Parts: sequence; structure tokens; C-alpha cells
Amino acid sequence: MSGSEVLIEAARQARERAVAPYSRFRVGAAIETADGHIVTGCNVENASYGLTVCAERVAMFKALSEGHRHFVRIAVVADTQEPTSPCGACRQVLWEFGRDLEVILANLETITGRHQMRELLPHPFDGRLL
Ligand code: THU
Repeated sequence: MSGSEVLIEAARQARERAVAPYSRFRVGAAIETADGHIVTGCNVENASYGLTVCAERVAMFKALSEGHRHFVRIAVVADTQEPTSPCGACRQVLWEFGRDLEVILANLETITGRHQMRELLPHPFDGRLL
């Protein structure tokens, strides 16, 4: 398997662990660190819906909490024909910690999109503006 296939497969496996009893929309994410580690996340929902956390942020916060600080790409997997691309909140968090990450979108069979974070979040707000 190529590097991106390994990352996508890790995101597919993470998706299996999604905690999504309300939406039943299961998402997996896998972040590759600059030194080659893979850290995964899945969406985790709550009966108080607004407390739900997306797979991308779970993956990023897990990676940060494990001490990783440099990232090269993230894969996001859902069981949809259309690409499931990160929500606005996740884009802001991914930009904060990953800057211009490559974002690979996939479903259970194939890649559905490839982007750079600077395309997904043009004119970002970040610490340079404070
Ligand atoms: N979700 C993600 O985990 N990532 C995305 O990129 C899109 C949305 C989750 C949040 C919620 O649990 C469910 O998908 C439906 O919005």
C-alpha cells in the first residue's frame, strides 16, 4: 500500500469506532505526523448535540496530547459518494496546529478529493493577527 492508502485505511478503521448514535453518520480521520506516526480519531456525539466533536478534531487533539506538533496530512473517511470535507470549526483547528496540511477525502472504496488546507480556509485568522 502507498503512504496515502495506509493513512486512508487507518481512517477507515477509526470510522468503525465512531460514536454516532444520533446522526448515524460515521466519520474517521487519520493524521500523519512529520516523523511518520499516524494518529486516528472518530466522531463522538452527545445527547446534547452541540457537544459533539468531529473526527478531525478528535484526531488532532489526540495527536497534540501525545506530544506531536508537526503534521503533514490528514485523511477523512465517510461512507458517502460526495466528499465529506472538514466543517468550519475543524478547518480552524487544523489550520492552527497543522497549517497547510494536505487533506485527503475518501469513502470506503476510493479517494473522493484532495486539497491543501490553504484552499479550504482562505484568509485564515491565526496567531499572527493577534
Ligand atoms: N462530522 C465529522 O466528524 N467530520 C466531518 O467532517 C463532518 C461531520 C460528524 C459530526 C457529527 O457527529 C456527524 O458527522 C454529522 O454531522
